[in-house]
Amino acid sequence: MARTDQGISITPPPLAAMIETLRGHHALAATGGGEKLRARHESRGKIMVRERIDLLLDPQTPFLELSPLAAHGLYGNEVPGAGIVTGIGIVEGRACMLIANDATVKGGSFFAETVKKHLRAQEIAEEHRLPCLYLVDCGGAFLPEQDRVFPDRDHFGGTFYNQCRMSAAGIPQISLVFGGCTAGGAYIPALSDQVIMVKGTGRIHLGGPPIVKAAIHEIVDGETLGGAEMHTLVSGVSDHLVENEMEGLAKLREIVGALGEIGKVTAPPRPATPPKLDPAELVDIVPTDLRRPYDVREVIARMVDDSAFSAFKPDYGATLVTGFAHIHGYPVGILANNGVLFSEAAVKGAHFIELCDQRQIPLIFLQNITGFMVGTEAERGGIAKHSAKLVYAVSNARVPKYTVLIGGSYGAGNYGMCGRGFRPRFLFSWPNARIATMSPEVAATVVTELRRQSLKGAGDEAAIAELDRRTRAQFEEQSDPYYATARLWDDGIIEPTQTRDVLGLCLALSAGEARDTGPRPVYRM
Ligand code: COA
Repeated sequence: MARTDQGISITPPPLAAMIETLRGHHALAATGGGEKLRARHESRGKIMVRERIDLLLDPQTPFLELSPLAAHGLYGNEVPGAGIVTGIGIVEGRACMLIANDATVKGGSFFAETVKKHLRAQEIAEEHRLPCLYLVDCGGAFLPEQDRVFPDRDHFGGTFYNQCRMSAAGIPQISLVFGGCTAGGAYIPALSDQVIMVKGTGRIHLGGPPIVKAAIHEIVDGETLGGAEMHTLVSGVSDHLVENEMEGLAKLREIVGALGEIGKVTAPPRPATPPKLDPAELVDIVPTDLRRPYDVREVIARMVDDSAFSAFKPDYGATLVTGFAHIHGYPVGILANNGVLFSEAAVKGAHFIELCDQRQIPLIFLQNITGFMVGTEAERGGIAKHSAKLVYAVSNARVPKYTVLIGGSYGAGNYGMCGRGFRPRFLFSWPNARIATMSPEVAATVVTELRRQSLKGAGDEAAIAELDRRTRAQFEEQSDPYYATARLWDDGIIEPTQTRDVLGLCLALSAGEARDTGPRPVYRM
C-alpha cells in the first residue's frame, strides 16, 4: 500500500533496500575522520580505533558495538559515531565494556552525543558489572559546544562520577592512553584504577601547552608537560610505560586476565538451537509500510531457538502476543504487538509480566505499535486504567528487559511496550522503525484541527494547508530511525537477521546475576 503525503505517493523501500542503506551508513561511520586524517594518525605510529579494538579482543569473539551512528546527520556529518566507539567485547574470557576515543574525529573531543554515548556505555557496564576499558585519545570538551557538554548533571562530569562510583563498587576501571589527553580527557586515566601510557604519543595534562601559556605564561612542550615517561617515572599518574600501542594492548590484556571472576559470562541453561525457520526470511515477511498488517508470530518463529514458542493466553487480547521461548539457550518471555492495544491485551500483558517476574524470566518486547485503542467505547471500557496496569507492570518488573523496535513505536504504546523511559537493559531498532508521539498523518490532522478550533472557523485555508505540510514534514523527519539513533534514543540500529544473536549476547550478560527473589503475588490484573 502506498502512503500519500500531499497527494504524492510515497512507498517506503522494501526492508532489503533499507538494510543496504544501513550497511552503507555503518561503513561510512567506521571510516572515522576520513582518509587524510587516517593517514596523519597512522604516520604518527598510531593504530585506528577499531583496529585497536580488534587487536584487544579475544580472537573469533563477537563485539557488540553500541550506537555506531550516534551524531549521524549532525554537525554537517563531521562527527561520525560521535567520535567514540563503545561496545561489549570479550578480553581474556571476560565480557568488558570498551570506551574508545576516535582521535581522527576532532581530536577525540566530546560533543553532546559523545558524552551521552560514554555515559550510556558506563550505565550498561555498571548494571552488568562489566570491567571498563578506556582506550583514551581525547581532547576533552569540544570547546565550541561547551555549553552542551560541560555544566549539567548528565554532562562530562557525570562520566567521572560514574568512574569513581564504579571503581568503589569493585568494577575495574582501566585506561590505556594512546594520545593527547587534556582537561576532561586527562581525568579519564587519572580516575582509573590502573593506567598504561604509550611512550612518545600518550600525554596527560589538565591544561595543555596553550592553556599553560595563557594561564601562567609558561612555555612548555607537551612531552615535558605530560608525556608517558614523565608520568610513569616522575608523577606516578601512570602505572605502566609501554614502547608502542601493540605492547600497550598486550599489557591491557594481561591486566584484565588477572581480574578474577568479574566479567565471566554464565553459560545458558540449555544448549542453543537455531530456529527451524530461517531468520533470513524476515526481510520478505516484514512490510515496511507500517499500515500493512502481518503476523508477528512469523517474526518470533525466526528469532527463537527451534522456532519453539509457547503462547500464553493466545485466545484473549490477541493483539498482544505473549509467550515463553529460548534465545541462544536462555529463557525469555516475549511480548510482541500484533495490532492496536485494547484493554484485554493490556491486562494480559501485565499478567504475563508478573508471571515472568515471579519465575525470573527476562522479558523481550518487540514493538510495532500505533498506540492504545481510542474512542468512546474504549474509554468507557477503562482503557486509561488498563493500559496504566501494563505500564505499571513494565516499570516494576525486576527481571532484565530488552526492547526491539521492529516497526512503529507511537504514543503510550511506546510506554506500555518498554520504551527507553522504562529502562530496558538494551533497546535496538530495525531500519524500518518509526518513533514519535504519533504518525505524520495523525499529527497533521490534530494540529490543523486545533488551529481551526482556535480560529473559530475563520481560518485561512492556505495557512492551514501550510501548517499541515510543515507538521507532516516535521513528523516524517523526527520519526526516522536515523534521527533517533543519532540522538541515542536507542543503542543502535540492527539488521533483523542479527536480532537473535544480539539478544543472545545481551541475555548472556545478565544470566549470572543474583535476582531479587522476594515473594510477589501474581494479580491477574
Ligand atoms: N575543542 C575544539 N576543537 C578541538 C578540540 C577541543 N577540545 N580538540 C581538538 N579539536 C579539533 C582541532 O581544532 C582540529 O579541528 P580541525 O580539523 O577542524 O582543524 C581537530 O580537532 C583535530 O585536532 P588536531 O590538534 O589537529 O589533532 P592532533 O591529533 O594533532 O591533537 C589533541 C589532538 C586533542 C591533542 C589537540 O587537538 C589538543 O590539544 N586539543 C585541545 C585540547 C584542550 O585544550 N582541551 C580542553 C578542553 S576543556
